[in-house]
Amino acid sequence: MASSGATGDLSQRTGRTAAIVPAAGRGERLGPGAPKALRLLGGQPMLVHAVRALAASRVVDLVVVAAPEESVDEVAALLNDHDLGADASVVQGGETRQDSVARALLTLPDDVDIVLVHDAARPLVPVEVVNAVVAAVADGHPAVVPALAVVDTVKEVDEGSVVTRTIERDRLRAIQTPQGFARAVLQRAHAEADLGVTDDAGLVEALGIPVLVIPGHEEAFKVTRPFDFVIAEAVLARRRESRGG
Ligand code: CTP
Ligand code: MG
Repeated sequence: MASSGATGDLSQRTGRTAAIVPAAGRGERLGPGAPKALRLLGGQPMLVHAVRALAASRVVDLVVVAAPEESVDEVAALLNDHDLGADASVVQGGETRQDSVARALLTLPDDVDIVLVHDAARPLVPVEVVNAVVAAVADGHPAVVPALAVVDTVKEVDEGSVVTRTIERDRLRAIQTPQGFARAVLQRAHAEADLGVTDDAGLVEALGIPVLVIPGHEEAFKVTRPFDFVIAEAVLARRRESRGG
């Protein structure tokens, strides 16, 4: 595999960078409707925004989207019809986010040595975040995640909703995507770690490999509940305004 070998050492790097976009979720917390990645934001499917945001980074060479089973053809057509600025392909997603990422991982060409994993549900990630994640991986960090400090006080509760402890907030981070990996490390993590984790860095952590946290961005938030759509439309409107259009 390119120059990275089994250790994930990218110091003599010649390989390409791929971005995997898990987009096969239903969007149950959004309420009834089309699969979340295909719902419209500013008149375009959320997925199209997400792929554009990745392709806007010159360092991303190719994008692989994991689509809902019944929407594979529709997603392929979308990727074809829009000028997205990077090679894009589609695979059928799986039962869980982890399965969807694993399926996309299997299709990557041999010369890819850095892999980003980016939620379709984070359509407005600024290109600076994408660039910073790739730069940190290329610099030798095997796993890199963008994050923000947590603003709310976080407490743990028991089954009866009674507080069992308050977690020291200064040490908490809310993790975003894209998460970036040396390809060899992400592949090993998917092959060896099989936990119910909600992100890819969680698999890498389980192998005892350090995961570097770098600054994320408010606009990289995940569209999860209906209110998030209101915020996303407002961010788009502000961007249009600042471009003078
Ligand atoms: N995802 C995926 N395959 C799955 C489940 C989720 O590719 N089987 C993707 C989603 O499409 C999304 C990302 O993983 O881009 C983050 O998941 P989440 O925000 O939970 O999205 P959904 O699973 O669609 O939403 P919900 O949990 O509310 O149903
Ligand atoms: Mg989900």
